[in-house]
Amino acid sequence: MQTENSGFKTVRNSRTTITELMIPSYANFGGKIHGGILLGLMDKVAYVCAAKHAGTYCVTASIDNVDFLQPIEVGELVSLKASVNYVGSTSLIVGIRITSENVKTQAIKHTNTSYFTMVAKDENHQSIKVPGLILETKDEVRRFADALRRKELKKQNHTVLKQIKSPLEMDNYKQLLKNERCVIDIIL
Ligand SMILES: CC(C)(COP(=O)(O)OP(=O)(O)OC[C@H]1O[C@@H](n2cnc3c(N)ncnc32)[C@H](O)[C@@H]1OP(=O)(O)O)[C@@H](O)C(=O)NCCC(=O)NCCS
Repeated sequence: MQTENSGFKTVRNSRTTITELMIPSYANFGGKIHGGILLGLMDKVAYVCAAKHAGTYCVTASIDNVDFLQPIEVGELVSLKASVNYVGSTSLIVGIRITSENVKTQAIKHTNTSYFTMVAKDENHQSIKVPGLILETKDEVRRFADALRRKELKKQNHTVLKQIKSPLEMDNYKQLLKNERCVIDIIL
């Protein structure tokens, strides 16, 4: 018998981990790992996790809060753990936790936690509905609710940020920037 929730999937069904060795070609001039390398790995693990849940091709719609908390060294093992935290209609949010391990000392540091919003697409590139989510643990319930709250805050933020796009009079800019480390030196 078909129930309203048939076709829903568990979080564990699409949970994904990628571990990658940080090789010298990933490093910047300071000898630390490039942020772009991590972003690429995050996009990859988010895609795998989202596509497993959606059962179809997905695109990245947005990424929230990429804060690089600690540098990563060449030779460390970086692990990216991804799981579906939230599903909407055609979108889902994948939470990614990144840790880096020094293989000699076994010291593990947390370097990032980020949230990727992915949208499921059909073969004609039309957005399609994703399966609902079965929450089996208290942490999964908390993550779903947190994602919902972050989504609401993001919506409010968008409305506020739109105001920044409306240009001000030059006098207002001068007032706003008067204690900043810049000089206005416009040649007319
Ligand atoms: C992201 C994209 C699919 C949204 O398309 P759209 O026609 O504006 O879609 P909609 O407004 O109908 O939104 C579709 C879903 O995405 C969500 N969404 C769209 N933009 C979003 C954003 N910036 N942040 C969070 N969620 C977003 C909507 O909330 C909606 O979710 P829901 O169906 O679960 O309610 C479209 O802008 C796109 O294809 N962008 C390019 C993606 C890309 O190339 N990514 C990089 C390579 S993979």
